Amino acid sequence: MDHHLLLIIHLLCAALWVGGHLLLVFAYLPQALKTKDQNIILNYEKKYEAIGMTALVLLVISGVLMAYKYNVSIEYWFHFDSPIEKVVSTKLLLLLLTVAFALSAQFRVLPKLKNDPNKLPEMTFHIVAVTLIGVLMLVFGTFIRFGGF
Ligand code: HEM
Repeated sequence: MDHHLLLIIHLLCAALWVGGHLLLVFAYLPQALKTKDQNIILNYEKKYEAIGMTALVLLVISGVLMAYKYNVSIEYWFHFDSPIEKVVSTKLLLLLLTVAFALSAQFRVLPKLKNDPNKLPEMTFHIVAVTLIGVLMLVFGTFIRFGGF
């Protein structure tokens, strides 16, 4: 697929992934914490989940395909040898961290949060962490057009 088209898909999905999480952090999370009402978060997650997961999957596919177009194929990943490969490998590590937080939220926190508002601080930590990681992935992505780091 054409690199330009992959980049457009990547940027649209970055907008959905990072934007969706920033909206949660700045609009819904403060309200949920103030009123101790976990349903505000649970209802948002229910609506956002399919959009967010689709965006993340497309980010990975388009990102990996663009990495290949920069000749950063799988055998070079995690060597931290060249500037563009360093960005790609860092983004892949952050992706693994995102998946770890998502699994922890899904299987450890969310089932308990349904009946227990005392789990809100733990959920807040997961949401803020995933949001900050998303912003970092966006910022690191912008380094590629300047030759990497
Ligand atoms: C939350 C996940 C991610 C976000 C928010 C994100 C965001 C971005 C952004 C904003 C850019 C800048 C594009 C530009 O300068 O015009 C970018 C570029 C890039 N990203 Fe990602 N990205 C994510 C995940 C990934 C993953 C998993 C990979 C795979 C290794 C990847 C590989 C790339 C590559 C190769 C570019 C350079 C595209 C180019 O300028 O030609 N990204 N990303």
